[in-house]
Amino acid sequence: MRNSLVILLSGLLISGSAFAGSKVALESASIDVDDHKSLQRGTRNFMNYCHGCHSLSSSRYNRVAKDIGLPVVPADTGASGKDADQIAGTNAKLITENFIFTRGIDGKPSGLGSLMHNAMPSDDVKNWYGGVAPDLSLTGRSRGADWIYTYLKSFYLDPERPSGMNNTILANASMPHVLWDLQGNQKLVEHIDEEGHKHSKLVLETAGSLSPEEYDEFVNDITNFLVYVGEPAQLARKKYGIFAMLLLLMFIGVAYALKKEYWKDVH
Ligand code: HEC
Repeated sequence: MRNSLVILLSGLLISGSAFAGSKVALESASIDVDDHKSLQRGTRNFMNYCHGCHSLSSSRYNRVAKDIGLPVVPADTGASGKDADQIAGTNAKLITENFIFTRGIDGKPSGLGSLMHNAMPSDDVKNWYGGVAPDLSLTGRSRGADWIYTYLKSFYLDPERPSGMNNTILANASMPHVLWDLQGNQKLVEHIDEEGHKHSKLVLETAGSLSPEEYDEFVNDITNFLVYVGEPAQLARKKYGIFAMLLLLMFIGVAYALKKEYWKDVH
């Protein structure tokens, strides 16, 4: 009886450590949703490389434009009169030419006030790539920044997959590595250490058009953008949060003064 308990426990320990060895640690993304430049680059990168398959059906172009610091409505520009019209006009042109490439689900060309749907029917993506490309509106929250950042850095060559690629944190992902020409191709190198633990790491086999540091920044900006998209209200929430804290502090003062007033005859 005791023997079988020991065997069971050591079995659990061994499988536990094997699992720990194969688990991939997430890398830390650097997120700052107040960094307009990063959000603008992230939007551009997303619209050029991701939006063809992934919709952001909870966002509208004009709202995103405003939040990333390129307002297209004169009243939002902070300027007045002709200046405001001019800034809004320039931004509108920039957004239309650089960010709006797809049609809406109704097949009509998208405009500044449209939702950020894309025209590609999910069935087509499923047939071509073997999986549905999910709407990424909430992925910044459901998966978290570090997961998205690491996912975009973890594609590697795998001849056994239909796309020739696999991913260390989403095994057998049906998404092709759409950024391979920027990152280059990675391969997975595995080795067993003296204690018999399996380790694996990704090694760049052929270089892409970006250096590893530039690629990190490229995918970090996309991640920052997806974190913002997951909760656009966080920009306002953080601003109002400070006022709410100040208000509460004020009330502590008022409550203390009242307490002194009420108790002054008792003590
Ligand atoms: C050719 C179509 C296509 C393109 C382009 C594409 N993806 Fe995907 N993506 C997919 C498919 C299909 C899946 C589902 C993968 C699976 O579950 O196996 C996916 C999954 C994902 C997921 C995981 C979602 C989840 O919660 O499981 C993320 C994050 C993601 N894609 C981000 C991106 C980003 C960022 C880009 C642009 C750099 C991009 N994708 C470009 C097809 C695409």
